Amino acid sequence: MMLWTCLLLLAFMAASSVASVGKQTYIIHMDKTKITASDDTPGNARKWYEVVIDSMSENSYEDEQVSPLELLYIYETTISGFAAQLSTKQLESLKKLNGFLSAIPDEMLSLHTTHTPLFLGLQPGRGLWSASSLASDVIIGIVDTGIWPEHVSFKDSGMPKVPSRWKGVCEKGTNFSRSSCNKKLIGARAFFKGYEAFAGRINETLDYRSPRDSEGHGTHTASTAAGNLVHSASLFGVAKGVASGMRYTSRVAAYKACWTAGCANSDILAAMDRAVADGVDVLSLSLGGISRPYYSDNVAIASFGAVQKGVFVSCSAGNSGPFSSSVGNTAPWIMTVAASYIDRSFPTKVKLGNGKTFEGSSLYSGERTKQLPLVYASTAGGIGANLCLDGSLSPKLVKGKIVVCERGINSRTQKGEQVKKAGGAGMLLLNTEDEGEELFADPHILPATSLGASAGKAVKNYVGSAKTPTASVTFKGMVYGNTAPAMAAFSSRGPSLVGPDVIKPDVTAPGVNILAAWPPKTSPSLLNTDKRSVMFNIISGTSMSCPHVSGLAALLKSVHKRWSSAAIKSALMTTAYTVDNKRGPIADVGSNTSAPATPFAFGSGHVDPQSAANPGLIYDISSKDYLNYLCSLNYTSSQIALLSRGNFTCPNKAVFEPAGNLNYPSFAVILDENARKVSVAYKRTVTNVGTPRSTYVVKVDEPVGLSVTVEPRSLTFGNLGEKLSYSVRFTALGGKKISTKFSFGSLIWMSELYTVRSPIAVTWQ
Ligand SMILES: *[C@@H]1O[C@H](CO)[C@@H](O)[C@H](O)[C@H]1NC(C)=O
Ligand SMILES: *[C@@H]1O[C@H](CO)[C@@H](O)[C@H](O)[C@H]1NC(C)=O
Ligand SMILES: *[C@@H]1O[C@H](CO)[C@@H](O)[C@H](O)[C@H]1NC(C)=O
Ligand SMILES: *[C@@H]1O[C@H](CO)[C@@H](O)[C@H](O)[C@H]1NC(C)=O
Ligand SMILES: *[C@@H]1O[C@H](CO)[C@@H](O)[C@H](O)[C@H]1NC(C)=O
Repeated sequence: MMLWTCLLLLAFMAASSVASVGKQTYIIHMDKTKITASDDTPGNARKWYEVVIDSMSENSYEDEQVSPLELLYIYETTISGFAAQLSTKQLESLKKLNGFLSAIPDEMLSLHTTHTPLFLGLQPGRGLWSASSLASDVIIGIVDTGIWPEHVSFKDSGMPKVPSRWKGVCEKGTNFSRSSCNKKLIGARAFFKGYEAFAGRINETLDYRSPRDSEGHGTHTASTAAGNLVHSASLFGVAKGVASGMRYTSRVAAYKACWTAGCANSDILAAMDRAVADGVDVLSLSLGGISRPYYSDNVAIASFGAVQKGVFVSCSAGNSGPFSSSVGNTAPWIMTVAASYIDRSFPTKVKLGNGKTFEGSSLYSGERTKQLPLVYASTAGGIGANLCLDGSLSPKLVKGKIVVCERGINSRTQKGEQVKKAGGAGMLLLNTEDEGEELFADPHILPATSLGASAGKAVKNYVGSAKTPTASVTFKGMVYGNTAPAMAAFSSRGPSLVGPDVIKPDVTAPGVNILAAWPPKTSPSLLNTDKRSVMFNIISGTSMSCPHVSGLAALLKSVHKRWSSAAIKSALMTTAYTVDNKRGPIADVGSNTSAPATPFAFGSGHVDPQSAANPGLIYDISSKDYLNYLCSLNYTSSQIALLSRGNFTCPNKAVFEPAGNLNYPSFAVILDENARKVSVAYKRTVTNVGTPRSTYVVKVDEPVGLSVTVEPRSLTFGNLGEKLSYSVRFTALGGKKISTKFSFGSLIWMSELYTVRSPIAVTWQ
């Protein structure tokens, strides 16, 4: 799915760069304080932009070659500025304006593509899912591919009326009307000006030029965050169960900013800006681009504006694992979510002619195959046959056989489609070494299964050596009770390249083989030849784990109305767990050794909503703290002004705090491995939200090669809301050669009732 998106993106960028000769869309950041101070239009930013843009357009008329400036959006809520299509000349004159901060070229980001509530410990009528905590209104805004409003997951029966503070609307468009929204789906908007500037007008026979979802991704993520409880949800009767959002009484607002070829940054910003102005409490973004410094990362900048207005922002970490430093969306004010397996799987059994058997995974819903002739695709066609690319297989060589295909380039279900088209009877889909033992369950259109890299090797050896190789595939349906959670190999990893002083990702949540709502007009395999219509579909990605956390944040917001976004984040992080359901450390499917997963895979651990509701202590962070953090990253004043919108000055350089002093609920330490007795000290402040009188004692699990001292070693609170500080010193022991690049430990504050845990991750340089 990811790859498919990327390919489309490449194809279309090549085309669009020709189409937009001489003009490019830019996102222009302006200093808000300079605007509102202007004489012409005091206090009215929109008016001011219009004046500026009009004057620029007039100037450019004098130059015959330049057409008038085209304004796409004005941003006022989460950032200050606008998006416009500009010529180089226009850009140059804009740069001379008083108040100009930066112009970032628009770019395309890509999507990071129900049993889960039970796995998370949420049960109807109990704890966080009890009536009292569900009663209050929380609104989740989903920036994605839109929504299928008629889906049963978004029915509004029994919902109270829409809160009066809500300012959103239901926008009309292709097959979407004002009445498409209801008391559950309370708003829907579509943003495509940036996209159309890239790709040309949206073809309404291929996509809805409206908030309606033609891809499935947005419907899936929205229902994961806030879909209704739906009994007997299933996909082809395989994954039968209750489907439900994490906070099924939340309201949903859909902001469609992603289209067939991706999501234009200018549209995402417009969606975020509008969503915050409309009054969402939580923003969920299952998308991302290349990791870059926060002052040039528009999603990070807009998220900062949203967080300042009290909105919780949750983003996917990305699907570029298991490689180090692949994590995106890393700004410390964003909740960055990794993806892990749940205890449910869809196993298959592959039996080779030599009697050997292997377990794979599939959502194919039909009968098992007989023992059939087996053929390796690379010997059964032309160029690209090993990958079962479009038209590469020779029908003569695959007819009636089970075909062995390798992963890469085209989508997993597309490979099955090619085998079927060429007359094949089934498919074994092998992982490469890089993909290791990751097993996706896909809704194949023929009897097909995925197999891990080690099984793949055995299959290839067998096909290469046997005279008349055969195989059969049996589909075992849905199985519970697997060892879980385990980190998905594809889940992007830290350390963050942009802000190594903060551990990223922050937490992990279910993201593999997730069942959620699906538009009935979109085939579950996303293949045009697949005519099946489903109400629910199973897909994987950090795209799927992110809305789980968005929904949980909404749950916490309904219980703790006054908590800041940083407090909710802290609660989810310090209560996260790092052991699986068999009491072992959480495993890493992306690891080549049997070493367990580290904080650079799962951050603080797997979210635990029941504990998060009552964390004992929280690490709170104010907007000013974040800005001070940016000062300590040595950002220039104009870079910081992009985030502060002109309303902040760094303290004198001499009194800069170290970046590690950001009051984050985890510790990232960077030390020289050869240095001996070199140390760094960080300060933290915790707020008591547990019992009024309580004493906490610190317990440290020291990372290899490091000594950790905490001062003081115990904290005694007398009141709720009381804040106490401590310092922690990390000293490199030196001498002993450290064999790894990273070492890990933890710092835990324990009272009678609470365990407040922070991971420590050391990067040796
Ligand atoms: C338009 O929406 C309705 C639901 O209101 C749906 O049944 C119908 O199939 C949609 N039409 C198209 C062309 O997608
Ligand atoms: C829109 O897509 C349809 C179906 O592929 C195609 O027939 C039609 O020509 C397209 N329209 C435009 C304006 O490109
Ligand atoms: C695992 O090992 C294989 C082969 O040795 C290699 O190709 C792959 O990149 C390794 N994966 C990681 C995450 O190191
Ligand atoms: C910022 O600059 C100071 C002084 O020049 C330096 O000590 C520090 O390491 C720099 N910090 C970062 C994150 O680059
Ligand atoms: C600047 O910040 C202060 C407090 O941080 C706030 O009260 C004020 O409204 C802000 N001004 C602008 C123009 O944003």
